[in-house]
Amino acid sequence: MGTRTREGGRPAVPAGAPADAATRTPLRLAVLVSGRGSNLQAILEAIARGALEAVVVGVFSDRASAPALQRAREAGIPAQALSPRDFVSRAAFDAALFAAVDATQPDLVVCAGYMRLIDASAIAPRTGRIINIHPSLLPAFKGLHTHRQALAAGVAEHGASVHFVTPELDGGPVIAQARVPVLPGDDEETLSARVLAREHPLLVATLRLFAGRAVTLREDGVQIGDERAVPLQLSCNNAFA
Ligand code: GRF
Repeated sequence: MGTRTREGGRPAVPAGAPADAATRTPLRLAVLVSGRGSNLQAILEAIARGALEAVVVGVFSDRASAPALQRAREAGIPAQALSPRDFVSRAAFDAALFAAVDATQPDLVVCAGYMRLIDASAIAPRTGRIINIHPSLLPAFKGLHTHRQALAAGVAEHGASVHFVTPELDGGPVIAQARVPVLPGDDEETLSARVLAREHPLLVATLRLFAGRAVTLREDGVQIGDERAVPLQLSCNNAFA
C-alpha cells in the first residue's frame, strides 16, 4: 500500500509515524450469523487483543435462537434477529434486514456462518462491501455439506475461502484461502474441525487487509494492495504467503 496523501500532496501521516496510523479509522463491521458464531468470536477476540483494527457495529441473524447472538450481546454489541416467516418474500426480508444493517453504517458486511441466501436486490447496491466465509476451497464444493462433498470426491486437500458475495451462491471472486490436508480415516466431524480451526485465522487475516483498506473489488477481479496474486493463501503462521 502506498502512503495516502491529503489534497496538495502533503503526507497524511507525520514522518516516523506508523503508516496509516494517524489517518485510519477502525473498520466498521456488520456481521451476519445464523448459528454457533465461532467466526464472530474469532473476530471479537482479534479486536480485543489489538490484532484487528475494527469495530463490530452490529450482529444480525435470521434465527433468534442463534448462539452467536448471545456471544454478541455478552460482548456488548447490539444484536438482532428478524424471522423470514414474518416477510412475504426473500426480497422483503432482505430489505428489512439490510435496512437494520445500514443503520449501523458499516464499511463491510461479513457473512460469518450466515446460512441464508441473500436476494440479488440486496447484494447489488452493496457490491464489494459484502464478504462471506465458506468452508471449501472455492470454486470446489459450493453450497451445503462441503466436508461431506470433499470426502465423497476423495480430494487430498480441503479448506476454506473468503470471497465477495455476488448473486451467484458461493460464486463471487475469492479473496483468500486456507488449505488443510484430508487425512486417512477422516469423517465429516474431524475434517470440519480441521477446517474450522483455519477459518478463524483466515477470516481475521482477511479482515486485517480490509482494515488496511487494501482490498478492492474491480470489474476484472479482486485487487489486493499493489496487485498481489489472488486468492491469497494463508500460511501456517497465519499470515498470507
Ligand atoms: C463455518 O464453517 C462457516 O464457514 C460456515 O458455517 C460455519 C459457521 O460456523 N458457513 P460459526 O457459526 O462461525 O461457528
